[in-house]
Amino acid sequence: MKVDYKRALLLVSTIAFLASSEQLLAFSTGPAVRRTGSAIFNELSCTACHRDNAVNSGSGTLALTGVPSSYVLGQAYNLTVSIRQTGQSRWGFQLAARVRASVTQAGTLQLGSDGFTQLRADPTAVQFIEHTSAGTRQGTADDPVTFNFTWTAPTTNVGEVVFSVAANAANNNSANTGDFIYTQETISRPPDAPSVTATPSQTALIVPFAVESNAYRTNLGLTNLTSTAATVTVQFIDQSGGVVASKQYTSPPNGLFQVGGVIRDLMESQTTPNRQGYLLLETTQAIGAFSTPIDNTRLDAAVLQGTRGKAARLIVPTSTSIGLFRTGLIVINDGNVPNTVEIRFRDNGGTQRATRSITLAPYGFLQTEDVPGFLGLSDTFGPIEVRSTNTTPVNLIAVSRVFAPVTTANGTGTASAFFSEEVAP
Ligand code: HEC
Repeated sequence: MKVDYKRALLLVSTIAFLASSEQLLAFSTGPAVRRTGSAIFNELSCTACHRDNAVNSGSGTLALTGVPSSYVLGQAYNLTVSIRQTGQSRWGFQLAARVRASVTQAGTLQLGSDGFTQLRADPTAVQFIEHTSAGTRQGTADDPVTFNFTWTAPTTNVGEVVFSVAANAANNNSANTGDFIYTQETISRPPDAPSVTATPSQTALIVPFAVESNAYRTNLGLTNLTSTAATVTVQFIDQSGGVVASKQYTSPPNGLFQVGGVIRDLMESQTTPNRQGYLLLETTQAIGAFSTPIDNTRLDAAVLQGTRGKAARLIVPTSTSIGLFRTGLIVINDGNVPNTVEIRFRDNGGTQRATRSITLAPYGFLQTEDVPGFLGLSDTFGPIEVRSTNTTPVNLIAVSRVFAPVTTANGTGTASAFFSEEVAP
């Protein structure tokens, strides 16, 4: 038998080319997910392939309209992406709506009825809405070209929602050349968005986590380390560094003052607030502070101590997602500028398995209940590195929470432990 080496070689090299390049992933029929060019979530844009022009360098415009400055729970909004650029004649886009604090899907996106849009999902179930082949409107001049669809706000307060959009004003040559890419990000604030942002003094303490929901409540302890009464101003901070609520407590000389259900107390709420965030403490005397998030079903209490950002590169000692175990991660930006943070998972043998980065607002935070899932992994066991990649690195606080469900006579609750960061040498 005669072997056609040339054909075999061509086939092999074609497969190698397809496997090694981005080319396989996206065409005018709609690009691969995670190409919105998000600065907040450090995402690639269409320029990963449409490389001829730098992003946002063209003479055209991209507009996203209909995003409410602050959303109403469960409300539907009609959104429009409009692209313009004189001389161009084919069009495309991709958009995602994500919760800033957790990088998860925010609300739901629904297609327009014109057949110009389609939905894709990434491995973490984030929706990406983008053009269809018909949606590229081949040969249509800029008038502008629009994509219309609906976003329904979440039914619970998820904090800030980030809309990230990338668009292509293309030249209709059916290739990834001569096209202009634009990106934009718009933030919709929660219904009760705080107007004041955190400005901690150097001596303020941060208690990295507090939660109040049907499943959990949190107590706050303020231990006075001196023989003079301490006046402590406690602020509850959201993922954007906003001050949600603030109140003063007094811890007696050499004493201890404990606030039960601290978020509810701070918010002076009659009902369970269903909120989580961190606590910022300004105090007139030296104090020790701790929070105890308590599982309401099992009365299992974990402990977190007051701290401050000590370094810009930290190692969270452990995380796991084996069996019933899950691991959450909280990363707080202890700085008054946006902080781009790389999160790197290494297995217990020290081999890097995944990294992902996100930009935190000044004194804002990232909070994920499944850090391996956030990194696209499962069945993991190992430490997590958290590092500021700003030109001038900014200090961080990082804590992991390892937890597992436990069923008792009262129902199923969780058992959990928090692991505070170590400063990497
Ligand atoms: C993985 C590489 C890749 C990425 C990423 C990518 N594209 Fe493309 N795109 C291509 C290729 C290759 C073509 C040409 C083949 C075709 O038309 O299907 C193309 C063609 C197009 C065309 C038609 C261009 C023309 O001039 O005819 C549009 C519109 C388009 N892409 C939009 C987008 C948008 C919007 C994004 C980002 C959200 C994007 N693409 C991201 C590879 C990519």
